[in-house]
Amino acid sequence: MKTNAQLLIIGTGGTIAGAGASPELSTRYEAAKVPIAALAGAVPGLADHARLSFAQPVQKGSYEIDATDWLAIRQAVLTGLADPALTGVVITHGTDTLEETAFLLHHSLSDPRPVVLTGAMRPGTAHSPDGPANVFNAAMVALDPASRDRGVLVVMNERIHSAAWVGKRHFSSVEAFSSGSFGELGSVADGQAGFHRAHDPSLAARPVLDLAPGTDLPRVAVVFGHSGGDADTLAAIIASRPAGLVYAGTGNGNIPLALRPQIAQAVRDGIVVVRAGRGLEGTITRNSPMFDDDSLGTITAARLPPQKARVLLMLALAAGTRSGDLQGLYDRA
Ligand code: SIN
Repeated sequence: MKTNAQLLIIGTGGTIAGAGASPELSTRYEAAKVPIAALAGAVPGLADHARLSFAQPVQKGSYEIDATDWLAIRQAVLTGLADPALTGVVITHGTDTLEETAFLLHHSLSDPRPVVLTGAMRPGTAHSPDGPANVFNAAMVALDPASRDRGVLVVMNERIHSAAWVGKRHFSSVEAFSSGSFGELGSVADGQAGFHRAHDPSLAARPVLDLAPGTDLPRVAVVFGHSGGDADTLAAIIASRPAGLVYAGTGNGNIPLALRPQIAQAVRDGIVVVRAGRGLEGTITRNSPMFDDDSLGTITAARLPPQKARVLLMLALAAGTRSGDLQGLYDRA
């Protein structure tokens, strides 16, 4: 190896660390079986490009990952980045909630060095696993100086995405991730990363929320909007006293008239309510003719989908962001 590059590879579980009984059944397997050193050690050529170190803060399917796991993963990244000789970090993760962990790190880490998440849609035992190529490509992106100062990145299926915009859009295809109308930042193939977009200043200048050591993330609930809003479900969630509530409204974040008194009461009771949309694209209009946020005391999620709006609210409340500053935070995220 003729390089001084150093890469920390953090394993957290998921399909990429999964194993199945038969190569023909690429959706029938158990996630989170293979430890990270074995997983990365089986990626051909990887060790030729950097000195590798490993951490395994959790080993689970990402549908099991919770706020405590997020903080453990973040701490593993911070511990690695404390070494000034480290070039970058790759995190292997289940794809179900990869976008949430990536978004949390994007808004709670400020180091310019690359932090790149990747996963796989097929376990290593499938006929054509996507994990080894995804890990190799993520490593090539993490080692590329052009990846610095872009915030947290996600590499899947040869595409480089920003954690700000990416989401899982397909249940099972290897082309499961998309950044929608924002588009991906670049691509990576044959060991070569290529950014086809110039540095986006909004990524480097994103709000980064500082978490004091030992800080826990508060509970934020999500309510899914649908025809004929369900007052009983909303009441039960409010009665459970979350610190915040994201309402994934229909269309432009709409909430049925019948539920609005409950929303207003929740706000008066000190629950921060964020109005998001269950659709995939666009920016929620604040104080639209159909929804008076000022009088109800609601925040709008701007362009964030409900699951990312939840992450941002957990971070903001943990960091002690004043309620008057929350709308500005969503508008800049
Ligand atoms: C998971 O998210 O852990 C399971 C699915 C996957 O990794 O693709």
